[in-house]
Amino acid sequence: MATQEAPQRAKWSGKWAFILSAAASAVGLGNLWRFPYLAAKYGGGTFLLTYFVLVFTFGLSLLLLEIAFGRKTRLSVFSAFRSYGKRYAPIGFLAVAVPFIITPYYCIIGGWVTKYLTAYVTNSAASIADVGGESGAFFTSFITSPVASQVFMLVFMAITVGVVALGVKNGIEKANFVMMPALIVMAVAIAIFTIVQPGAMEGVAYYLCPDFSKFSPELVINALGQMFYSLSLAMAIMITYGSYVDKKDNLPTSAARIVSFDFIVSFLAGIMIVPGAFIALGSADAVAAKAGPSLMFVTLPQVFSDMGFAGQIVGFVFFLLVLFAALTSAISLTEACVSNIQDATSWSRKKSLGIFTVFLVVCGIVINAGYSGLSFIQPMGEGSTLLDFFDFISNSVLMPIVAICTCIFVGFIIKPKAIIDEIRQSSTFGAAGAWAFMIKFVAPVLVLVILVTNILPYLGIG
Ligand code: PHE
Repeated sequence: MATQEAPQRAKWSGKWAFILSAAASAVGLGNLWRFPYLAAKYGGGTFLLTYFVLVFTFGLSLLLLEIAFGRKTRLSVFSAFRSYGKRYAPIGFLAVAVPFIITPYYCIIGGWVTKYLTAYVTNSAASIADVGGESGAFFTSFITSPVASQVFMLVFMAITVGVVALGVKNGIEKANFVMMPALIVMAVAIAIFTIVQPGAMEGVAYYLCPDFSKFSPELVINALGQMFYSLSLAMAIMITYGSYVDKKDNLPTSAARIVSFDFIVSFLAGIMIVPGAFIALGSADAVAAKAGPSLMFVTLPQVFSDMGFAGQIVGFVFFLLVLFAALTSAISLTEACVSNIQDATSWSRKKSLGIFTVFLVVCGIVINAGYSGLSFIQPMGEGSTLLDFFDFISNSVLMPIVAICTCIFVGFIIKPKAIIDEIRQSSTFGAAGAWAFMIKFVAPVLVLVILVTNILPYLGIG
């Protein structure tokens, strides 16, 4: 059983430090970049409503599970699973593999954001939106540049590693205390600014009013996948963060706050971006057809460019907000990796971070070169990149596998009661019955559906 306690386990300085840091991990590129394009693509309001329901039932239950499991074992993920017997170590191993795969490519996208931020300082909004009459040219020429894209990635990595080097209390908590409130203020300001733009109301209506004819199983699967990614679930993060939580903290309340925070930022991101896409692209159908990963880096700069000089300022504030969100998530990913290296090897925190940094830089450079020197490697078919491949492996394959294994492990091996008892140490947890049902039966089935739908197209079926 989980009795061994790591000797100098870090601790949050308080309940709010934990809530804020977990929210900071959750709020990231997933909210600002991924959520709006999925919402735009899958019918606006319909997607928003489905996402809301999933997040506050299913997402909340899984988040609570991870935090409570972390707090119960007081170990990081790999050791937490192993403490129940060697045969469960592979679940921990897979879970830990996820942040190791995500962090390098997350930093590449963080580098893109850093580049855009500096570009809005030095260039006019028009020159970022449009190079030689081609709207995506700025983006494409940057990401395919062999040197500049690496430099910006390294800058982003340096800030991330720098904060983690300062430790849980002095680095992570302090950085989040500054960046998270700033992020919210900027998000609200830009959302208001967007709504008052001429022509924005049509987009706002599309985003807020559900049209049930747009409902589809594909929509639900994408909403579920987004939820996992956005809440940083099944990625060893929340278990690690939970392991630093005080035994007196009320876990259901904390989990509900984290989930709400994350949802609000996604919601605001939609308000900032979906109406903009409407203004730039014209109609719901055009938005649905064109919405994709390039929404933030190509379509949105067009919207800023149409605002004239104000566009340069809005563009700057917008990318600062995205940078903060990306940094706080990258910090949490790095922290999860480092804390797991430390526990698995009993190296010092410093040594673990040093070795992880070498890994991060080498993998980042190689994956990033997938857009330039190594672009002949197209692991997922014509035109795909190394980044697409690692994103697919981590989010579409490993994440659902880890989620299913975790639910089965808690539901049938250690039994929900073990986690319920942990939660009840500091709260009444009236919803324990519904929660256990969710973890044992609903979650594994739903996640299995996500896994199968993700993988089938690559096996030539479906
Ligand atoms: N949840 C973060 C986001 O929405 C991404 C992330 C995934 C962060 C996994 C940490 C771990 O962008």
